[in-house]
Amino acid sequence: MSLIFLLIIGISFVFVAYRLTGYVSDYLYEQRIRQDSISLERLATTVAPLFQSAKGDALTETLSSASGEMGGRLLVLDTDGKIQFDAFTALMGTRLPLPEVIDVLSGSPKAWGIHRLTQELPLSSSGYVACSASPMIGTQGTLGVLLLVSDVGDLIESLETVQRELTVIFAVAALGALLAAIFFSHVLTRPISALSRTMARMGEGDLTVRAPVAGSGEIQKLAESYNIMAEQLESLDQSRNQFVSNASHELKTPMTSMKILLESVIYQPDMPEELRTEFLTDINHEIDRLTHIVTDLLELTRMDNGQLQLSNETVDLSEVVSEAIRLLEGTAATRAQSISSLVTPGITVQGEAAKLKQIATNLIDNALKYSADGQKVEVTLSRQGKQAVFTVRDEGVGISADDQKHIFERFYRVDKARSRETGGTGLGLSIVRQLVTLHSGTITVDSTPGKGSVFTVTLPLSEKEVSKA
Ligand SMILES: Nc1ncnc2c1ncn2[C@@H]1O[C@H](COP(=O)(O)OP(=O)(O)OP(=O)(O)O)[C@@H](O)[C@H]1O
Ligand SMILES: [Mg+2]
Repeated sequence: MSLIFLLIIGISFVFVAYRLTGYVSDYLYEQRIRQDSISLERLATTVAPLFQSAKGDALTETLSSASGEMGGRLLVLDTDGKIQFDAFTALMGTRLPLPEVIDVLSGSPKAWGIHRLTQELPLSSSGYVACSASPMIGTQGTLGVLLLVSDVGDLIESLETVQRELTVIFAVAALGALLAAIFFSHVLTRPISALSRTMARMGEGDLTVRAPVAGSGEIQKLAESYNIMAEQLESLDQSRNQFVSNASHELKTPMTSMKILLESVIYQPDMPEELRTEFLTDINHEIDRLTHIVTDLLELTRMDNGQLQLSNETVDLSEVVSEAIRLLEGTAATRAQSISSLVTPGITVQGEAAKLKQIATNLIDNALKYSADGQKVEVTLSRQGKQAVFTVRDEGVGISADDQKHIFERFYRVDKARSRETGGTGLGLSIVRQLVTLHSGTITVDSTPGKGSVFTVTLPLSEKEVSKA
């Protein structure tokens, strides 16, 4: 990348340096030659009649003095390009095949050029000359060419110096630009490489790594967002581990007690019949518990995986709630508890009847379970705007504000020993919450320890009912 930068910058700078000196030199030559060619044209008109009438002395005199004035060497060529007169006399009779001469003889307007001197062109001692040509017109047409050869070695030399200096300046500038590019690209890419290193480590399974929040603007935001994601992944991972360890623990407890009970039965063959029956009943009870836990777990995992597809029927929620109450009235009666209800009939919601019933029974079951014998549970169902509002109120043990934050978590129980007695595993409310969410509803709890709790579920009314209203 840096190399490409260098190449692009370097090449363009060198190109600019050449073009620039090219323009400067063209301009300088033009200036110089324009002056020359004006004086040359004037001189040509003076010289032409002298040349035509072959007044050699007058011609020599005029040209010698003009040579000094114009700072160059004046030559007169005939129409064949042969030198007929040379102010320095050295080249008399030589042919000069200069393009300017040929051009002027064929009537072209461009009549100057710069030439590097060679052996064939021994016009001056220095390296470069500028040649300007002007036609000499006589009475019978073109007589020949008047040529001014001026030394431009100094000019070329200073131009070459300028070119060299410009090239050096541009090379230094290109190098500076390259260094700056490397520096900035490093500054820009460093946070990105740090981020990708973090991602790689996370990919290897280390969920505790975080990206350094460095750089500016977008890159910093990227690192922040990445860290938020990492945070969530880590907590998800932790809660999954917690879940697995809780589940194993919950499953292990009934297994252990079953093993103890079974061993007692096996190793005490002369155990009294009633005791044996009691032990076997306990084992049966533990198996029920296990089945209950496994069923709940399976249901939760299916909901987690999104495998649980609710059917989307219009369900009479009032019916469902009344059924749930009827179902639990027997249980309530065993502890002299009562369930009072205030259910508005005909409230319908979209969803699956069996799951809605599960929500109601779980909440009413909890209310009864966490209330003392003889206490009352109150169930209501009403419409509020576009919502169906279902509440379960008890006057039982209540839940502290701290515990309220956790009761919807899997396996969370406020009083482990007590809920074990009552057969709870702490999965009921997490299932309820999942089901409520699947029905696009909400669930909240309001509770005072020692006074009782209210669980409130709101569910959107069915489309049918909303369009009727
Ligand atoms: N109405 C309530 N009054 C007081 N505490 C409650 C009430 N409902 C739930 N809790 C507390 O919240 C905990 C979690 O309830 P959840 O229904 O999830 O589990 P559980 O009833 O213990 O077991 P499960 O419902 O899985 O058989 C309970 O253990 C209990 O401590
Ligand atoms: Mg429960």
